[in-house]
Amino acid sequence: MLLSIESSCDETATAVVHNGTVLSSVVASQISLHAEYGGVVPELATREHLRNLLPVVRQALDQAGIRINDLQAIAATRGPGLPAALRAGWTSAQALSYALRIPIVGVHHHEAHLYSPWIQGTPPRFEPECLVPHVSLIVSGGHTLLVHVRALLDHVILGGTRDDAAGECFDKTAKLLGLPYPGGPVLDRLAEEGRPDRFHFPRPLLHEPNHDFSFSGLKTSVRVFLQKNPTLPDDPIGLRDICAAIRAAIIETLVGKLLAATRSLRLSCITASGGVTCNRGLRRLLTEVASKQGLSLQLSAPSLCTDNAAMIGVLGEQRLCHDGPTPLDAEAEPGWELDGTSCRQAPPKPI
Ligand code: KG4
Ligand code: ZN
Repeated sequence: MLLSIESSCDETATAVVHNGTVLSSVVASQISLHAEYGGVVPELATREHLRNLLPVVRQALDQAGIRINDLQAIAATRGPGLPAALRAGWTSAQALSYALRIPIVGVHHHEAHLYSPWIQGTPPRFEPECLVPHVSLIVSGGHTLLVHVRALLDHVILGGTRDDAAGECFDKTAKLLGLPYPGGPVLDRLAEEGRPDRFHFPRPLLHEPNHDFSFSGLKTSVRVFLQKNPTLPDDPIGLRDICAAIRAAIIETLVGKLLAATRSLRLSCITASGGVTCNRGLRRLLTEVASKQGLSLQLSAPSLCTDNAAMIGVLGEQRLCHDGPTPLDAEAEPGWELDGTSCRQAPPKPI
C-alpha cells in the first residue's frame, strides 16, 4: 500500500495505490480561493495546502479502508511546481516516511501526467502491459510538451512551448474576454455553442518543421481583435463564436503537431494528458483524427487530467521499483525538468 501526495499548484491531493490499482483518490481544490485574484496566489496556495494536507491524508486512508500503519511507502510530487506549495506536500511526505519508517519516492509531476492515460477502468488500474511506443501530448496550465515514449519510464522530449503553455493561453484569452477564473473550462463550455469558422486566429508554428509550440502570439492576436471589436463579447452569440474560434486555433495546433511528430516517428499510438485534455473540443478532435488515420488513442480519464495524486501514486510505485527510494534528506525540486534521464534519481540511501 502506497500513499501519494500532490501539492505542486492549487490542488491538495492524496491517494492510496496498491500494485497499480487506485484504492482511493481525494482532491481538495482551491479554485474558489484563488478566483477573486484571477489566478493562483502562491502564498495562499501554500497556506491552504498546510491546512488541507492532514485531512486529505485521513480521507484517502478512510476511503481505501486502511490504517496508517498499513502503509508500505510514500510517494509525493517533488517537482516541478510552485516552490513553497511543493515543499508543503514534500515535507509532509518526508515526516510520514520518517515517522512510519517506510521509504519515500519523489515523483516528477509531468512524468506522472505522461503515464496517466494508462490508468483506466473501475477501480482505476495502471495498465503498463498495454503500453506500446507512442507520442504523448502533455497539456496543462504550466506546460505543453510532446514526448516520444519508447517504453515504460523510457522517454525523450521532442518539443515544448517556447512561451505560454496551452492552458495558460486558454486562461489568458478567457480573461481578455472577461470570463471568470479558471477561464479554460468556461471558454470550452461557451465554445460548444459557437461557430469556430466565423473568426480566424493563427495556428502558431503549425507547419514549421519542429516539435515546438508558441502560444503568446495567438494571445496577442486575440487582444488586437478585441481592441478592434470591443463590443462583440457583449453579444452572447459573438462571445460564443470568439470562444469557438480561439479553441479551434489552440486545439488544431496541438493536434496538428502531435500528428506530425507521430508521422515522423512512424508510430501508430498517441496519448494526451494534463488539465487541457479535459477540453471537449480537443477530446473530440483527437478521437476523430485517430479513427480516420487508424491510430490507437489513449486519453486520460477526465478526473485524472487535472492535478491528482492517483497518477503520482501509480508512477511512484513504478519509480520505487525501478530506482529504489529517494534519499530522505532530498529537497523538493521546483525547477525539475523532464527528460529521458533526469527523472532517474540518486542511488538510494538507507533510511
Ligand atoms: O494539469 P493541470 O490541472 O495543472 C497544471 O499542472 O497546470 O491543468 C490546469 C489547466 C488550466 O490552465 C485550466 O484552465 C486547463 O488546465 N483546463 C482546461 C479545461 N479544463 C482545465 N482548458 C481548456 N478546456 C478545459 N475544459
Ligand atoms: Zn499538472
